[in-house]
Amino acid sequence: MEVKRAKITAVGHYLPEDRMTNHDLEKLVDTNDEWIRTRTGIEERRILKDPDKATAFMGTEAAKEVLEKRGITAEEIDLIILATVTPDYLFPATACLVQKNIGAKNAFAFDLSAACSGFLYALSTGSMYIESGRAKKVMVIGTDKMSSILDYSDRSTCILFGDGAGAVLLEESEDETGIIDQKHYVEGDTECSLYQPAGGSQNPATEETVKNKLHYLQQDGRAVFKKATIGMADVSLEIMKRNNLEPEDVAWLVPHQANLRIIDATARRMGLSTEKVMININKYGNTTAATIPLCLYDWQDRLNYGDNLVLAAFGGGFTWGAIYLKWGMK
Ligand code: ACO
Repeated sequence: MEVKRAKITAVGHYLPEDRMTNHDLEKLVDTNDEWIRTRTGIEERRILKDPDKATAFMGTEAAKEVLEKRGITAEEIDLIILATVTPDYLFPATACLVQKNIGAKNAFAFDLSAACSGFLYALSTGSMYIESGRAKKVMVIGTDKMSSILDYSDRSTCILFGDGAGAVLLEESEDETGIIDQKHYVEGDTECSLYQPAGGSQNPATEETVKNKLHYLQQDGRAVFKKATIGMADVSLEIMKRNNLEPEDVAWLVPHQANLRIIDATARRMGLSTEKVMININKYGNTTAATIPLCLYDWQDRLNYGDNLVLAAFGGGFTWGAIYLKWGMK
């Protein structure tokens, strides 16, 4: 039986207008622009300030742009997969809110939780529906309002993240372009090196959890840094090797944007020069599930039909993985 291949046929995004620069953060915590730039590569990030708007809003805007770009109606969408760690509510799924907002009456929809690897996991999952013929059009969204779970008095975490959303449409490819290979890993982080301690069933919200700031993201930065550097580089090299890709065959590395030093280490390991690496962490910080589609959005005009792309991510869970695809948009 001939195996179908899924390809990206449109890309959309949403970024809040408000910018928070490193200098703005200097007024909130004991940090400085030089430290943040040299340790992370971040210069500024976007913040969704409107208290009435959240993750679903950003995902909706990104999805609407995808529909407009592809020139299709929302009714044509069969499935929406939305990756996030900052859902509007614990339930219903944020994907259901987006389904309603865009009017995708014929779609079923669910959220996928894999932290910074969320978009890659969602892209893999969506591609299976296309490959099996169970869906014709799958909307894959990565959207996070990280500012809603950050403690702006904790300099070790609040400097790293920003808000944003990206989305892509997956459809069946008619040729050899599209998603070719994918590899994902999990190593359950029982030490809780990167997590949001309260708000779930382990620590439901109480006066105590709020007083102890347990609804904010917490992490052991050094431990995560080490694991991320090794994990992202290893899996990227693995996907190159098993597809017989030499560095000159790879047009672009599309890395999760957590820290410029993690990205550089991955590129070095793959034998790629920095000109082949998509980097926008300086402008947006770490937008968790949105980093990879935001890169695709920013670079789409520079991508050529048939370009080999390696997408790679590492995140809380721990989760990590890589996808090899041939760019199929003309
Ligand atoms: N400004 C100034 N100084 C700071 C700041 C800050 N914002 N934050 C920490 N410091 C200080 C520390 O207190 C420490 O001081 P000390 O030596 O007197 O104790 C010093 O700077 C060095 O701290 P380290 O934690 O060793 O700094 P490091 O070089 O590891 O950088 C960072 C910290 C940026 C958090 C890094 O560890 C990192 O990026 N880790 C990955 C975390 C991450 O990206 N998580 C996101 C989700 S997972 C993912 O997306 C991959």
